[in-house]
Amino acid sequence: MTVILEARDIRKSYGAVPILKGVDLDLTRGGTHALIGPNGAGKTTLFKVLTGETPANGGSVRFSGKEIVKLPAFRRVQQGIGRTFQVARVFMEMTALENIMVTIERRMRMAGEKVGVWYDFRPSPAVRKEAMIRLSEVGLENRAETEARYLSHGDKKRLELSLSLTLEPEILMLDEPTAGMSQSDRHETVALLKRLKAERGFTMLMTEHDMDVVFGLADAAMVLNYGEIIACGTPEAVRRDPLVREVYLGQEATSA
Ligand SMILES: Nc1ncnc2c1ncn2[C@@H]1O[C@H](COP(=O)(O)OP(=O)(O)O)[C@@H](O)[C@H]1O
Ligand SMILES: [Mg+2]
Repeated sequence: MTVILEARDIRKSYGAVPILKGVDLDLTRGGTHALIGPNGAGKTTLFKVLTGETPANGGSVRFSGKEIVKLPAFRRVQQGIGRTFQVARVFMEMTALENIMVTIERRMRMAGEKVGVWYDFRPSPAVRKEAMIRLSEVGLENRAETEARYLSHGDKKRLELSLSLTLEPEILMLDEPTAGMSQSDRHETVALLKRLKAERGFTMLMTEHDMDVVFGLADAAMVLNYGEIIACGTPEAVRRDPLVREVYLGQEATSA
């Protein structure tokens, strides 16, 4: 198994408060990795450091062997690291279709393809067609003409997922992909992620607090607690770990 992303001794403080205290993390190519841990453990902060949204105070992040820890976020996106957010980020005033079309445009620009000046982007029939295919992939074909702000919470998350995939990332990082979803939406999302991953074969890192989602999807799990990784391994091994039971899973694990 090849390691596609290797983080070593990641440190991050907000002011004088240390949030990440020397985190090591390996993502294997094509794997589905879950980062779990209690609220406030530093999961989102670790995501931000990996994507370049916030600078690390120390440590190294190597992606396909190249050091990227100093690169700004947009350069990491160009290299193939995509992400979604705990609260979905989409273009609220645009329709679902327009959201995808501008993202296709962005991908074309990143690839150096000629698409004209930015204020004069006229989506070609090919762009429109691709956008429709991408919407159907996540079950949003009937929402194409709906402005994103009118989409349900679950549909906004699906649209955001589709936007990330439109950039064709090698690694997709999902911060709480099922946050705030109903149980049935959650099952649907797990099935959707499974299918997309099987079709595209990207590497996935997700944070998740729903253990059913973790067990349904991940082949590796890491537990972050107060800014330190306290366990990693298969989800089953992590769930059996006494320290993990003590600090995080508590009742849920003992009854499982
Ligand atoms: N921008 C920030 N400024 C100061 N403190 C922050 C900031 N972002 C997060 N924190 C703090 O860092 C800790 C970890 O937060 P976060 O990474 O969001 O945890 P998680 O995603 O695991 O719930 C929390 O105590 C939070 O209050
Ligand atoms: Mg978080």
